[in-house]
Amino acid sequence: MMTPLLSISGLSAISLRERGAPILRDVSLSLARGEVRGLVGESGAGKSTIAKALLGILPGTVKVTAGEIRFEGRDLLTMPQKDFRAIMGSDIALIPQDPQTALNPGRRIEAQLTDGLRLRRGMDAKNARERALSLLAEVHIRDPERVLKAYPHELSGGMRQRIMIASAFSLEPKLVVADEPTTALDVTVQKQILRLIRGMQEAHGTAVIFVTHDLGVVAKICDTVTLLYGGKVIEAGPTAAVLSHPRHAYTRALIAAGPRYDRPDAGLEPVPQAVFDQLQAELAMPFSSEMNHG
Ligand SMILES: Nc1ncnc2c1ncn2[C@@H]1O[C@H](COP(=O)(O)OP(=O)(O)O)[C@@H](O)[C@H]1O
Ligand SMILES: [Mg+2]
Repeated sequence: MMTPLLSISGLSAISLRERGAPILRDVSLSLARGEVRGLVGESGAGKSTIAKALLGILPGTVKVTAGEIRFEGRDLLTMPQKDFRAIMGSDIALIPQDPQTALNPGRRIEAQLTDGLRLRRGMDAKNARERALSLLAEVHIRDPERVLKAYPHELSGGMRQRIMIASAFSLEPKLVVADEPTTALDVTVQKQILRLIRGMQEAHGTAVIFVTHDLGVVAKICDTVTLLYGGKVIEAGPTAAVLSHPRHAYTRALIAAGPRYDRPDAGLEPVPQAVFDQLQAELAMPFSSEMNHG
């Protein structure tokens, strides 16, 4: 069997803020080259913690207590700092939740898009600028020359997120992690951004971990899905199989609740209390009860 691009196994983490409360419980998932995996769950499920562990940006108050994160066979958690830094931003890139805070407000887009190309790909200023222009065209920015000269505050939220996408793909990463990349945007723009990420992913053959709380988004753009609750994998498998034949009561309840299950006011069928009781009981079990579609 071919080595997966990414293989997380037995990852556990605790919160030092909440007296050692578990945040991740024995999480395993793997990703083939070019695969798009949805990481789905409600707020607090541990989605961002997995993303941050992968990117090496966990806060000091979160401690990994067990597990491995193998990227092309090598454990990111234990490899030398030097090797880790060479991979981050280059082979693994992030599309952040909020482009506003990810961009430096005091620097023009050109500087921010060309830094990586110059420092990490050794391009000269002219070549880096050319590449930045073609990246902006690729994310459907109509007047790339003007945008290169702009400061972030002169651009809309949707434009800024397109720039973050261009930036994430600029060094031809093997894996892009997108952590709820549309939550800061208007609903109409959200759809365009989702389509753009999927389009870029397909054009470049990049694997993507797509963090979301929305099963509707998973249905649209993810090949596979891992559903989390309380830091534990509840169900995982190919998206079509999980959505058409959900095995866990929680998965079934989320599907019945519709895309906005996180908003009780908008929901169709709220997740029944009995399902939460079952989840709580499972979190307390020492062995894994994960439903895996293989
Ligand atoms: N900076 C932090 N320090 C300690 N614990 C944290 C921190 N951020 C989040 N946590 C804990 O991790 C849990 C999972 O958070 P997170 O991974 O952000 O969930 P999600 O992205 O699924 O909403 C939270 O419920 C919280 O208890
Ligand atoms: Mg999060």
